[in-house]
Amino acid sequence: MSPTQTLPGQTVLGLETSCDETAAAVVRRAADGGVEVLSSVVASQIAQHAPYGGVVPEIAARAHVESIDLIAERALAEAGLGYGDLTGVAATAGPGLVGGVMVGLSFGKAAALARGLPLVAVNHLEGHAVSARLAADLPYPFLLLLVSGGHCQLLSVAGVGACRRLGSTIDDAAGEAFDKIAKTLGLPYPGGPALEQLAQGGEAERFPLPRALLGRKDCDFSFSGLKTAAARLAEGLSTAADRRDLAASVQAAIARQLAERSDRAMVAYAREQEGRNLRFVVAGGVAANAAVRERLTEAAAARGFSFTAPPLRYCTDNAAMIALAGAERLALGMSDPLDAPARPRWPLDAAAAAHNPTHVPGRKGAKA
Ligand code: KG4
Ligand code: ZN
Repeated sequence: MSPTQTLPGQTVLGLETSCDETAAAVVRRAADGGVEVLSSVVASQIAQHAPYGGVVPEIAARAHVESIDLIAERALAEAGLGYGDLTGVAATAGPGLVGGVMVGLSFGKAAALARGLPLVAVNHLEGHAVSARLAADLPYPFLLLLVSGGHCQLLSVAGVGACRRLGSTIDDAAGEAFDKIAKTLGLPYPGGPALEQLAQGGEAERFPLPRALLGRKDCDFSFSGLKTAAARLAEGLSTAADRRDLAASVQAAIARQLAERSDRAMVAYAREQEGRNLRFVVAGGVAANAAVRERLTEAAAARGFSFTAPPLRYCTDNAAMIALAGAERLALGMSDPLDAPARPRWPLDAAAAAHNPTHVPGRKGAKA
C-alpha cells in the first residue's frame, strides 16, 4: 500500500490568475489517490491583450477582478457543489504577474475565511508539475520538463513539494521564444499556437538555425541566438512558402533543443534512480505543440523512459492543476496562513535558484 492510500479525500476549489487566464476548477482527490476533475472553467483574456501583441499586466489584473467571482461560481455550479461541500481552497500565489496573482489569492483567502476552510497558497509551477496527474495514473517520482511562456526547466520531482532543478534557461523560456519569433513573422499573439499552424507542411530542414550552448555538458537552455537568427531570416522572406518553411525550421530547432537537453537529464536521472522509476513528463503551454511532443516521445523511448503529457486543456494555464496541487498538500496536512504573500518570483527549487539564479536584477529572462 502506498503512503498516500491512507490519507483523507479532498474536494478543492482551485483558482488561477497568474497571467492572462482567469480560471477556477473543482477537483476531487479520493483517499486512494484517484483524481476526478468535477469542473474546469478557463476564461481567456486573449482578445483584450491581442491589440498590444502581448499581455499587459494592468489590463490582466483588472480583467481578473471583474470575472473571478463569476468564474468561481461557474466552477462550483458545473461541479454541482457549494462551498459547504469543499474541504479546501487552493489559489496560485506566484510566480506570475503580481497584480493578477493578488486577485485570485485574495479571493481564495476571503472564501477560506468566510467558510472556515483551509487555504493552500500554490506555486503555479507545482501546478504544472502535477498537471499530468489530472488525467493519468502517474506516480511520483518523475523527471519533468516544464516548458511554458515564462518557464523552461528540467526538474527531478520526488514527491509533493520536493523538486530539484537539473537545468533551466539562461535567457528566454521556450514559449517566450515561440511568441517573440512569431511576432517577427507577423503572427498574432499568442504566437506559439499560431506558429505551429503556420509551420504545417513546411520544410523544417530548409533554414539552418544556430544550436545553443554547444560546448556545454549541462542541461541548461538558451533561445536568444535562435531568436536573433530567425528575426534576421524573417526580414528576407518574400513568399508564403518561405514563411511556412521558416516557421517549421524554428519549431524543429526549439523541439530539438528541448529533446537534446531532456536526453542529457534522462541520463543523469537514470543514474540517480539506479535504473528504476524511469518516467518522463512534459508540462506547460509548449507541451501542447505536436512537434515538441513527438521529439520528446522519441527521446524518452530511446532512454527507456515512459512518456506522459497532459491532455491539451491541462497543458496551458488552468485551475484544475492548482486544485490538485492544493488537494495533494491538504491530504498531507499542509496548508498556509491567511497572510500568505503573493510572490512575483518563486522558484520551485529555492536552493538551486539561490546558487545559480536565472534572474539577475536588471536582466530580462525567465520568471523563475
Ligand atoms: O503554461 P502557459 O499557458 O502559461 C505560462 O505559465 O507561461 O504557456 C503559455 C505559452 C505561450 O508562450 C504560448 O505561446 C505557448 O505556451 N504555447 C505554445 C503552443 N500552445 C501554447 N507554443 C508552441 N506551440 C503550441 N501549440
Ligand atoms: Zn503556466
